[in-house]
Amino acid sequence: MQGDALELLRRLPDDSIHLTFTSPPYYNARDYSVYESYEAYLDFLESVFAELHRVTKEGRFLVVNTSPVIVPRAGRQHESHRFAIPFDLHPRLTAQGWRFIDDIIWRKPDGAAKPRNSGFASHRQPLTWKANAVTEYVMVYRKRSARLIDWNLRQYPADVREASRAPDDYETSNVWEIDPAVDRVHSAVFPAALCERVIAYYSMVGDLIFDPFAGSGTVGVAALKLERRALLAEIDDRYVQRIQNRVGMQMRACTIEQLLEGRDASES
Ligand SMILES: C[S@@+](CC[C@H](N)C(=O)[O-])C[C@H]1O[C@@H](n2cnc3c(N)ncnc32)[C@H](O)[C@@H]1O
Repeated sequence: MQGDALELLRRLPDDSIHLTFTSPPYYNARDYSVYESYEAYLDFLESVFAELHRVTKEGRFLVVNTSPVIVPRAGRQHESHRFAIPFDLHPRLTAQGWRFIDDIIWRKPDGAAKPRNSGFASHRQPLTWKANAVTEYVMVYRKRSARLIDWNLRQYPADVREASRAPDDYETSNVWEIDPAVDRVHSAVFPAALCERVIAYYSMVGDLIFDPFAGSGTVGVAALKLERRALLAEIDDRYVQRIQNRVGMQMRACTIEQLLEGRDASES
């Protein structure tokens, strides 16, 4: 769906999504960030996740990838500012009824980090040391429910449960070492391996997987590969085009109206 994620979410029916995996737009870190203030940015994400809570099925999962962002200093007399997005978002999510389940650390190779220690390397003065950030957070939440996960599993017939069994080489810890991915059109894409793990561990075959900030559509590609269905929202034409190029006839681009009426763009 090409358009604003919040507008789409407001019109989706209750209890329609099995799993959401998303990486929201960064705060003023990339060209697509357009928020008046950090509070306004968090307020926007809070509205998105509140609607998402309504449309998520009982006891099902929301997985959010974020990391602290640095807004560079304006000049030598100023300090850069680091915003701790995962930590500031977390209390807003739990207040909405998202129950915290896990904090997964996505660790990239050392070379993937932007160096922050060039000054320190020469003068070695304490108080000035800064870490080269090689991790991002993958926070896992469950829509609050009085029922246990077994209840969710019992909704599926035995053949679907069998087909949904995770692969033998499944991950056992909360530190996932995965190389970052690059895309020729989008500047901040998920690696396929990250999407495939999240989808394999938090959804069943045939489920509807949602990414409200789809970018180049990596969640959609992984969902189709793992025999799930996918709903993606993306506001930028260039990225919607990129998604179409990646998944071709397997996915249709449409407006909110067409989506809700069950039509695709070619029928308008
Ligand atoms: C961090 S990127 C997601 C990248 C994606 N995970 C991938 O693998 O390509 C966030 C995306 O959210 C989109 N976006 C920003 N505001 C939006 C909104 N209000 N509704 C829908 N998409 C939006 C941006 O255009 C951007 O592509």
